[in-house]
Amino acid sequence: MARRLISLLFILASTLYSMGVDKGNFKTCEQSSFCRRLRGMTAGESKYKLDLNSLQISDNSIEANLLNGDVKLKFTLTAINGNIFRIQVDEANPLYKRYKPQFALKGEPQVSKLSLLERSTDSVSIAHNSDKVVLHAEPFKLEFYHDKELVSVVNGRGLFAFEQYRKKQENTNDEGQETQAVDDPGMWEENFKSHHDSKPKGPSAIGMDISFPGALRIYGLPEHGDKLPLRTTGPGGVDPYRLYNLDVFEYELDSTMALYGAVPVVYAHSPKHTVGLFWHNSAETWVDINNSKDGNVMASIVNLVSGSKTESNIDVHFMSESGLVDAFMLMGPSPKDAVKQYVSLTGVHPLPQYYTLAYHQSRWNYNDQDDVTTVVQNFDANDMPVDVMWLDIEYTNGKKYFTWDPVKFSHPDVMIQNLTTTGRKLVVIIDPHIKRESGYFVHEDALANDYYVKNKDGSVYEGWCWPGSSSYLDFYKPETIEYYKDLYSLETFKGTTHDVYIWNDMNEPSVFNGPEVTMPKDCIHHGGWEHRDVHNEYALAHVYSTFHGLMKRTPNKRPFILTRGHFAGTQRYGIIWTGDNIADWAHLAISYPMCLNEALGGISFCGADVGGFFNNPDVELLQRWYQASIWLPFFRAHAHIDTRRREPFLFADDVKNRIRTSLRLRYAHLPYWYTLFWQHESAGEPVIRPLFYAYPTDENVLDVDNELLVGNSILSRVIAESGVSTINVYLPGGPNEYWYDIEDFKLYHGTGNHNIPVSLDKSLVFYRGGSIISRKDRPRRSSPLMRNDPYTLYIALDSTHKADGYLYVDDGESFAYKNKKYLYIHFSFEDNTLTSELVDKTDYPTTEWIERLVILGPPKGIKGAKLTSKTFPSVELDTSYSNEDRILVVRKPGVAVREKFSIKLH
Ligand code: GLC
Repeated sequence: MARRLISLLFILASTLYSMGVDKGNFKTCEQSSFCRRLRGMTAGESKYKLDLNSLQISDNSIEANLLNGDVKLKFTLTAINGNIFRIQVDEANPLYKRYKPQFALKGEPQVSKLSLLERSTDSVSIAHNSDKVVLHAEPFKLEFYHDKELVSVVNGRGLFAFEQYRKKQENTNDEGQETQAVDDPGMWEENFKSHHDSKPKGPSAIGMDISFPGALRIYGLPEHGDKLPLRTTGPGGVDPYRLYNLDVFEYELDSTMALYGAVPVVYAHSPKHTVGLFWHNSAETWVDINNSKDGNVMASIVNLVSGSKTESNIDVHFMSESGLVDAFMLMGPSPKDAVKQYVSLTGVHPLPQYYTLAYHQSRWNYNDQDDVTTVVQNFDANDMPVDVMWLDIEYTNGKKYFTWDPVKFSHPDVMIQNLTTTGRKLVVIIDPHIKRESGYFVHEDALANDYYVKNKDGSVYEGWCWPGSSSYLDFYKPETIEYYKDLYSLETFKGTTHDVYIWNDMNEPSVFNGPEVTMPKDCIHHGGWEHRDVHNEYALAHVYSTFHGLMKRTPNKRPFILTRGHFAGTQRYGIIWTGDNIADWAHLAISYPMCLNEALGGISFCGADVGGFFNNPDVELLQRWYQASIWLPFFRAHAHIDTRRREPFLFADDVKNRIRTSLRLRYAHLPYWYTLFWQHESAGEPVIRPLFYAYPTDENVLDVDNELLVGNSILSRVIAESGVSTINVYLPGGPNEYWYDIEDFKLYHGTGNHNIPVSLDKSLVFYRGGSIISRKDRPRRSSPLMRNDPYTLYIALDSTHKADGYLYVDDGESFAYKNKKYLYIHFSFEDNTLTSELVDKTDYPTTEWIERLVILGPPKGIKGAKLTSKTFPSVELDTSYSNEDRILVVRKPGVAVREKFSIKLH
């Protein structure tokens, strides 16, 4: 009977999986007792008081007791390298240890020097570089100043909260911790009431308010299906932004609902400064935002122009269910500084393999091994490039990961061989749930060695996912990680090769019959931690294990892992996509802001399912989707099992031509993307950037999120409007900033809005004047076939007839670049002369050479050009103007990129 009920539940869950967001499945703040408690606090004087008698000052930090009646907490403020302050609060005498995330930080943050400025009976001031913090004792409040200007206040509204674990008998408060061990979300409250007596620890929520005086906008907090600037939330209105990794099918847009990932970082921004706050906590978190001037840009412009003090202010209220207060104030002062400060803590994407930046073709599912081979043949037959084929869950033998379907994928080795002979790769899906089937080796091993997550009574937790009854590996247990790593070995995962890479999905984790489609919070992980404590970090622990598995399997190649669930720090091991989107215009539009917010959260390598996961896009939408997605770092088409096939070669010639053009444009820019990822690893800047990041003093760009910058040289405007003949584009930078349309090379000035005619053949992409972009323009079938192809340098001149840019070259796959086996070339154009030089003293023996220069906005009257290098002491080159003299082409310099050279126009 019970089994039948469970199967019915499972069928219901699977059906729901393809029906559309059911809000009733997911909690509101009001339904979450800790959110309701903390949000219900009234702003006013805080009861917390810093006991300055207990103050201890060291070189790097300042410590004191934080008191509230008989509650005694330990407060620490530490100066961290790179203009960061760390605020930590823990219990002074904890009954139970509180959880601190284990995977988010890239290492222990490096402390820096702070100095005492002033001390009185009720306050202390300390300095760190040009920043200052004033600690007020009663009520407890921290003020952060940059260059004498107040930029942030902690506990200014007195919402600081720290619920202490109490002994069981004291825990009689109705508003206690939730167990969530029920299936019916409507039952939560009742469930709580009937279970609270058996709960061991009691409520343990923490909360803190942070204000950003003078800020006009606040960004961050991925992942939400929302616009780039965060909206004002508030009781009676919009629910707080929720950070709780969840599998939300057909997610809603313009919403603060939780999605698959959680990156608890915000950036408050004004033309004067940007300040960030990273809330290092992996429990369920809600964040209220209140922007005093939401949408009222005019008022702030008036303020600025009139010189009157701007009254703008943004309040943020972080509320987490458990864990410690561990917050990092990122002092900026620019967006670039603040993001760098964030990645200095959580790390960067390591340089990916070159092919990962090319085009990926996926669907749930390719039917069998022949299907995979045929799809690639069709790409080839249609002269459309593709690098990677993807296999979804149906390749497995009955959803048992690390196995192959014996009929449909009887010869994975042959299929993979077919792919790799043409330079392609394969990615296969591996989810964290394990089928509970006797005889399945992973399940048997996990049971025998205790690798699974447990119920609170110590038995193995069982939930429902794709395979039916499943258990979940506990990636908090070192032995599980070691075991998991070996599952990826070629001996264990038979049929795979070193050219097979991994997709980790459903790792929020998704549990079809679990509360809110996830694991109950009272499940237990290694170390005794409740799932409640680690929830948002579980996917990161999963990807961490996979990453090290691939490192062990193929030590000389850079791993590639796509993950759906993510947390702060995920970028060090994997890349993400925006999950199960829908084939509609709004979902195409949201792909830009969603990935931009992820990029601010350190996760630049982001994309959205091209074409939309659910439903069938019409051809106009599909073409626009390709045109827009070539400017997002991760470029993969994917679709639900119930959708019609939509590989790009299946369409009429005009559609095929347009998609082919987009694919080729992406491939032409692979050297530029690759260079950006190298720069990202070495300098931490996001690969894609919102306009405000690059033009922080321009108030008109605060809300622009239908445009993005790829590096600092390319601007793309997504066309997510159907049937349009003109499009409005905002081009930033002022009259002296030049922007060249990359298709017709028309010059525009950065004077704001331009209305530009478009047809289906036209996308809106611009090179910034002042840039040199290295392209490979010869069309090929896959990126490895372009390895030795020559470069065309696109030299987009600025208003002073100058430009510069970089090109990074290495073997595209190994770690040899860490031993100086690479070229990092700087090109600059000045006085009508292009010169090249190596930035670092390194070398990489490439035969690549320069085929052509295309100069945008060229000087007039040029007759020719002269190349000078060691191999070519003096060679005359042909030049010609074209496109109504908008460009000057310099033919066949033929010089190797490795060689220092100059080309002078005359
Ligand atoms: C999840 C993924 C989706 C995948 C499906 C089947 O819904 O988000 O991309 O196709 O599972 O594995």
